[in-house]
Amino acid sequence: MGCPFWLLVIPFQSAWSRISDEAWYETEDGIFAQVQVAQMPFHKNWAHLPSPPERFWIEVGMNNWGLAVWDGDFGPKDFVIGFEPLLDKYGERLAAYRPITQGTEGTGKRRILGLQHERGMVFPFAVGCKGMVELSVPEEDSCSTILPVDPNSIPDSFEHPMKDVFDYKADCVTAGDKRLVPCISLDYVIRVWLNGHEVEYLKIDAEGADLMVVQSAGAMLSKVKTVSLETRCDELPRPWDSPNCSTILRYMYKEGYFCYTTFREQLVKCGPPNNNICRICGASVIDLTFTRMKR
Ligand SMILES: *[C@@H]1O[C@H](CO)[C@@H](O)[C@H](O)[C@H]1NC(C)=O
Repeated sequence: MGCPFWLLVIPFQSAWSRISDEAWYETEDGIFAQVQVAQMPFHKNWAHLPSPPERFWIEVGMNNWGLAVWDGDFGPKDFVIGFEPLLDKYGERLAAYRPITQGTEGTGKRRILGLQHERGMVFPFAVGCKGMVELSVPEEDSCSTILPVDPNSIPDSFEHPMKDVFDYKADCVTAGDKRLVPCISLDYVIRVWLNGHEVEYLKIDAEGADLMVVQSAGAMLSKVKTVSLETRCDELPRPWDSPNCSTILRYMYKEGYFCYTTFREQLVKCGPPNNNICRICGASVIDLTFTRMKR
């Protein structure tokens, strides 16, 4: 008598949430697997280093180019946590890791779980969404996005700045297939995994969802010193419903960042209040870098 029902239930629930007994399962959408992707507690993931990392990088979207570990500024005190929801690209990043302590680079050598580099990890997650989301994967898989895509929003006459590389509407917007991928927020990554440590550099390539990635940091955005992201200039049609360049600039300014970019081979400040960069960059995409202001 008198023992409330919830007292009995809660201990079972917490044990349950630690590990589900569904090692793998099927739904009408596909076959899903639970696999271990990293170690916990989180610092075990850099236990192989002579000393703990001092500067953290986060990179969101790791499809082939511009990886943090290739950056000239990525140094021996740094550590990067990367996210790439395309499973084959995630696999490429894992396979690229060559443990430097081994002497040989044989593919049969054991690699530390989840590492993409001696000083970096990769997770097969999307960032800035909740639960599981559909990733649309068109023919050109670097155009994959977690945003709902409307190919009709792109006029047939439209010429993308990269038209020599691919046919934008056919290869980049018209969905090849859809895959369900797990989501994480930057708030969780910084607050829990990094224990609130400052993030030196947040590098985002998330096909239209870049601002959602930033916003997923919540109050932890104050820990992030520099953000780089890609946006479409205001004139360039967008096949998804996402904030335009001007909106991104205003948001970042309000959050305490100033912006700079390379325009016509010059490094320029891009405001606001001086935010006409989104207009004068025409119908192209532009990389913007935001640095936290001292206020
Ligand atoms: C950008 O988006 C905002 C908010 O939706 C809108 O008010 C503004 O007109 C847009 N600017 C351009 C140039 O499309």
